[in-house]
Amino acid sequence: MPEILTQTSEEISVELKPAKAKPKPGKLFIGGEFVNALSARTFETRNPATGEVITEVAEAGPEDVDLAVRAARKAFEEGNTWRKMNPRDRSRLLWKLSELIRANAEELSELETLDTGKPIFESSRFDIPLSAECFEYYAGWPTKIAGETLANSSGGEALVYTLKEPIGVCGQIIPWNFPLQMLAWKVAPALACGNTIVLKPAEQTPLTALRFAELTLEAGLPPGVFNVVTGFGPTTGKAIVDHAGVDKIAFTGSVEVGKAIMRGAANTLKRVSLELGGKSPNIIFADADLETAAKFALGGIFFNQGEMCTAGSRIFVEEAGYDEFMSVLRGRAQKMVAGDPLHPKTRLGSLISQEHLDRVLNYVTIGRNEGASVSIGGERIGTKGYFMKPTVLEDVTNSMRVAQEEIFGPVASVIKFREPEEGIREANNSEFGLAAAIWTRDIKKAHLMARRVKAGTVWINTISTTDNAVPFGGYKSSGFGRELGRAAIDLYTETKTVWVDLNG
Ligand code: NAI
Ligand code: MG
Repeated sequence: MPEILTQTSEEISVELKPAKAKPKPGKLFIGGEFVNALSARTFETRNPATGEVITEVAEAGPEDVDLAVRAARKAFEEGNTWRKMNPRDRSRLLWKLSELIRANAEELSELETLDTGKPIFESSRFDIPLSAECFEYYAGWPTKIAGETLANSSGGEALVYTLKEPIGVCGQIIPWNFPLQMLAWKVAPALACGNTIVLKPAEQTPLTALRFAELTLEAGLPPGVFNVVTGFGPTTGKAIVDHAGVDKIAFTGSVEVGKAIMRGAANTLKRVSLELGGKSPNIIFADADLETAAKFALGGIFFNQGEMCTAGSRIFVEEAGYDEFMSVLRGRAQKMVAGDPLHPKTRLGSLISQEHLDRVLNYVTIGRNEGASVSIGGERIGTKGYFMKPTVLEDVTNSMRVAQEEIFGPVASVIKFREPEEGIREANNSEFGLAAAIWTRDIKKAHLMARRVKAGTVWINTISTTDNAVPFGGYKSSGFGRELGRAAIDLYTETKTVWVDLNG
């Protein structure tokens, strides 16, 4: 992935096409129908690249969440359409959803770019196709989810086996940085296992989830199996977490909200899985292919404007390779193409909001005050939208706030280290543990270091790749539970043990 990000403006040649997506005014999606919020309240969703309002979205209150949970409960417990659907048919439904995402890819890409400010280049090449692939991947699972027959020594003859059953109603709360992909990561495995869903997209980016809701109708998903409630965290999100009719919460977002969700879910002992922030180390040893490492380091931190939980935001560089690595990094960072996210040439889009831009820019000031030097960028671009120059902070030490706190923007904190032991020790010196990258030509060192890094994903001589078949999640404050792959099947099933006495 990251390689394409390192193209400079001279290397890209494309034409600008006018946007075709026409978002409809949003409603809630409950029980297979688009309905107004009971309060009739709405809120605006804006295009961060221009600040303009795209459309109005319904604001769900606790009473709407209650209706959505009831619809999901009914679809889970009653009737035969979902509960008794055989695995092959569930598989076909998931496959159909992937086909519909592909068939509407252009529209979904534009909606995603309008709502998030991310380059159309990224939404059309990554977000949307990878979401379709996620449904394809999980379409293969319904026919393979199975329990086991177990040995037992309890005395006498017995048959003991397990059943893998769906958990029930799943509340899924997702962020604004990869809206459709985060939906896919949560919805596809939950459906594959036979659960029903109440999904809350981020208030900043509700549009692709609402379009996806329409696609579920087209696919023939039974009413109530998938519901969307749009709204804000402390109201709509909290109502899902507090609702006694919800069996599980899956959340991706900030550490602070992750903790609040865990506390809230404790009251009703909901199952919880959390994918939270990160401050991932990207460790460059002097014996690495430094040019490639530098190119990928750019992708690791600047993809999606750095609004990425796995962002390789702490770049540790061994002293002996520092100058060579940094000259490539600085040179290419300076040339990154920021601009209209709908323009296919653009590689760096707008941050999500004014508030977020201010927060990210403030970290540049914090870094300066702590003694870091801004070698590239550090400023806003223009006054329209929330664009920011790719920013490289050097002379950073790992104890500085810019090395310890998640910035979630296009800001790389570069830390020099003298020898491998120091590099690995400092890399692990963090509250977070989502991911890490290691660059070296020494295969033994690479694997030994991979074992020592405290992170859910370690990339060796690459960075920021994920795959639907590969588990993803964090250590420490980055959360718990693993999404994707077989791991997500465990997240969305209960194991039931059945004992059968066979004594005569
Ligand atoms: P957030 O954690 O507030 O929002 C994520 C989702 O949680 C949204 O759907 C939001 O409406 C919902 N939410 C918020 N408060 C809630 C509550 N009390 N109960 C239930 N749901 C709630 O993240 P926010 O404010 O958008 O971004 C703040 C920071 O969080 C970012 O700067 C970044 O550092 C981090 N973040 C990390 C993400 C990741 O992928 N791990 C994604 C988004 C943000
Ligand atoms: Mg928006």
